Amino acid sequence: MVLHYPEVRYPNWELLCKAAQARGIRLTTWEPHRLQVHCTDGRVSGCYDGEPVRPEIILHRTVATFQGIVIPVLQLWASEGATVLNEPDAAYRSRDKLLTYLALHRARVPIVHTIAFVEPSEAAMRSLTDHRGAILKPAHGVRGEGIRTFRSTVELLATWADNPEQRTPVPFAREHYVAQPVVGGGGRDVRAFVVAGACVALMQRHAVAGEVRANLTLGATPTQLPIDHPAASTAVAALDACGLDYGGVDLIEDDDGTVRVLEVDAWAGFAGISAVTGEDVAGAILHLAMTRRGRGAAV
Ligand SMILES: Nc1ncnc2c1ncn2[C@@H]1O[C@H](COP(=O)(O)OP(=O)(O)O)[C@@H](O)[C@H]1O
Ligand SMILES: [Mg+2]
Repeated sequence: MVLHYPEVRYPNWELLCKAAQARGIRLTTWEPHRLQVHCTDGRVSGCYDGEPVRPEIILHRTVATFQGIVIPVLQLWASEGATVLNEPDAAYRSRDKLLTYLALHRARVPIVHTIAFVEPSEAAMRSLTDHRGAILKPAHGVRGEGIRTFRSTVELLATWADNPEQRTPVPFAREHYVAQPVVGGGGRDVRAFVVAGACVALMQRHAVAGEVRANLTLGATPTQLPIDHPAASTAVAALDACGLDYGGVDLIEDDDGTVRVLEVDAWAGFAGISAVTGEDVAGAILHLAMTRRGRGAAV
């Protein structure tokens, strides 16, 4: 079973379907908002459209806004023996850039110097080296959205109050932010896709002129990198540190040539990197699902 909305970033679903067809696997789509948890004294069940159910194998993507139901339901099904790729708590934690950096730090995976805060202050920013500028990112941002760059942390602090959306509470909590030095001047990074402890696809991305963010959705130009590039092993270590079975990793090389992790994403799209590298990322994910549970089960 794939818990997702097929029409959201559709090419990824298309690739999963193609890979499934090639392997004789039947994929079923369930939509996240149709899940429920039924709780009674005697029993707690995960339900779909009101029916108590328990799929055999579960992949999830495009579920980011359904955390309150998705995590308990998937954990419940896992406790009843279902195979859930990408433990849901770990997947949601990796959506938070600060929690990702903390997990990476614990595992000694290189990260970029980061100050995390709800409100920035001069005192807090003092230690950030900003001679090539500073970058500010919402902790839960995706695809480069909400990211701003500044000539210095002084400019970051001076313009902070001009953006009231930075104070808008997301449900239950105000968003926190991460500030970092702009590494290597920006405009270039590496994207890896890791499945089951192996880097299966690796590419470099060059941003459009004048742009720091090298996200493909912002027009960056990708080129394939050899799979033995040092970024591959860092990406594998990052996925392991975050406790994930598969996902995308954004990395950046600093001036000393050290590859550092910018982001880990359990729900990263793989259509772009599959097209650039020719690698069958969807097939690798399905292969992992089937080896976890044995062939023949419906995913
Ligand atoms: N500290 C940094 N130095 C240089 N470039 C950066 C830095 N942080 C992010 N970027 C650029 O911005 C892009 C988006 O940042 P990222 O942390 O991956 O957030 P998002 O979740 O929005 O993709 C990266 O892919 C990279 O090209
Ligand atoms: Mg990114």
